Amino acid sequence: MSYQERIDTLKRELRAIILAHNYQPPEVQDIADHVGDSLGLSILASETNAEVIVFCGVDFMAESAKILNPETTVLIPEKGAKCPMAAMCTAEAIREMRKRYPEAVVVGYVNSTAESKAEMDVCCTSANAIPVVRAVEADQVIFVPDGNLGAYVAKHVDKEIILWDGFCPTHQSMTATDIASLQRHNPGAKVMAHPECTSEVLEMAEIIGSTEGMVTALSDDGEYIVATERDMIHRLSKTAPGARFHEVRGSVCPPMKMTTLESIVRSLETMTWKVELSDDIIRRARIPLQRMIQMGR
Ligand code: 13P
Ligand code: SF4
Repeated sequence: MSYQERIDTLKRELRAIILAHNYQPPEVQDIADHVGDSLGLSILASETNAEVIVFCGVDFMAESAKILNPETTVLIPEKGAKCPMAAMCTAEAIREMRKRYPEAVVVGYVNSTAESKAEMDVCCTSANAIPVVRAVEADQVIFVPDGNLGAYVAKHVDKEIILWDGFCPTHQSMTATDIASLQRHNPGAKVMAHPECTSEVLEMAEIIGSTEGMVTALSDDGEYIVATERDMIHRLSKTAPGARFHEVRGSVCPPMKMTTLESIVRSLETMTWKVELSDDIIRRARIPLQRMIQMGR
């Protein structure tokens, strides 16, 4: 039996669905029930009546699925698939920030641990960060953990944004020089960039958005320099087969590359690795995640 057949059989037996982020390896995207960005996958996870969710992505995404749908078993095929940015701001650090800025509201990017979410007022993703920050009833906002996304939001809202210095190593490594070189060699190409990129790169971009935002901005006869994780191009090419894409040097997210078809089969056969969070963390972290879904959908 092929991996695909084994996965289909196990999915039927367990009443499972497979959610995959847009950065997953092509063969994983191709067998998933849904492929999308953090926001879309969180909403799907909160609404599904499947008994098991296999989350092909990184730790904070699978944790969000569990927080939003605690009755469901959520599996992450690779236990080591951890987003380094999520570890850059702790719950303790957020408590300290609150003491320093008692009037501020804490808006937290979903690329954060469940413990940190439990300290936030509202979450956001790259798809809704600007509308979420605009909607909060405060003139001062603590934005954690991504400094690049926070600085991008600050340019689009009329509020004081207190930044944290977290970053995504993958997006941080893409330089304006890399983009300029691709532009020289491909003069007709538009730059599309994820807001985790540095402000220098974002200034060169015509399209800035979440990974799913990039999919919706495509035109089939377009040519694009894609300043985000390289397997995004698989999703973009499937959506716009006539378009041309150029990847940027260094655009690999190692934890996103850990999932394989083999590890998905193993995950379903052995029910590993289950996302386990305490009831208290689930209860407290669900509040900012649900607020986000209500505010920024
Ligand atoms: P999206 O929410 O845009 O899919 O991004 C998630 C992410 O981790 C980007 O690095
Ligand atoms: Fe985390 Fe960056 Fe990978 Fe996104 S691309 S999951 S922010 S390390």
